[in-house]
Amino acid sequence: MPTVNVAALWHDLECGGYREDLPAWRALAAATGGPVLDVGAGTGRVTLDLAAEGFDVVALDRDAALLAALEHRARGLAVETVHADAHEFELARRFSLILVPMQTLQLLDGRAGREAFLRCASAHLHPGGIVAAALADAMDCFDDEHSVPPPPEVRDVAEVRYSSQLLAVVEECGRAALCRRREITDSTRRRDAEDVVLHLDRVSAEQVAAEALPLGLVGEDPRYVPETEQYLGSTIVILRKPRQ
Ligand SMILES: C[S@@+](CC[C@H](N)C(=O)[O-])C[C@H]1O[C@@H](n2cnc3c(N)ncnc32)[C@H](O)[C@@H]1O
Repeated sequence: MPTVNVAALWHDLECGGYREDLPAWRALAAATGGPVLDVGAGTGRVTLDLAAEGFDVVALDRDAALLAALEHRARGLAVETVHADAHEFELARRFSLILVPMQTLQLLDGRAGREAFLRCASAHLHPGGIVAAALADAMDCFDDEHSVPPPPEVRDVAEVRYSSQLLAVVEECGRAALCRRREITDSTRRRDAEDVVLHLDRVSAEQVAAEALPLGLVGEDPRYVPETEQYLGSTIVILRKPRQ
């Protein structure tokens, strides 16, 4: 029986279904022409979409299991993977576009972490190139219209059911804590449950642009990904490295 890449499976369940931002990344790639660096690429939701559109994409992530799934899915496409930390990476190439989809910038441990990434990103941009990062405030997940948790995302693999449900989003020390329950139920109905918490910094596009300016990246008009019944909307902050 083939082994299951469980990290990739949870990632796909929790992130893989989101498609609302793809037109924005395609438009940015078309405007800059690539090559593209996808930071926090995961199993390749955005990388594979852009590569299928013909862009040359490098996918960077610190999780080797996710990159293994991405590589498997990328066969035949112009995709390279890099196992590295977004705070400190050094690649022997430069990019026209550096993408940070799905609030990954908010996973980088506050202002110091964002600045470390932006410094690194700036060093990897061609003059005139841009960093584009999607931001959202996860505290908006629940409101008067969405006061109960959404149904779990579920997948069955080899008679085992994997289920992940967002239960709550709470404020913890200025960050949004997303509380999920992951359950694995085997064919004998034995169930394993694990509660996982993901912390997202709460930061606006204006704050990120202000942090980026001293690092030589100039903020431009942000773009917006509209909210849907299922997903929060997001703001894509755009930071350009000026041509000297
Ligand atoms: C919310 S997921 C987004 C995945 C993918 N970009 C997408 O939009 O579907 C965040 C990703 O960022 C990666 N990540 C988190 N912190 C990172 C870091 N410091 N360096 C590199 N990757 C990181 C995680 O492993 C995960 O794959």
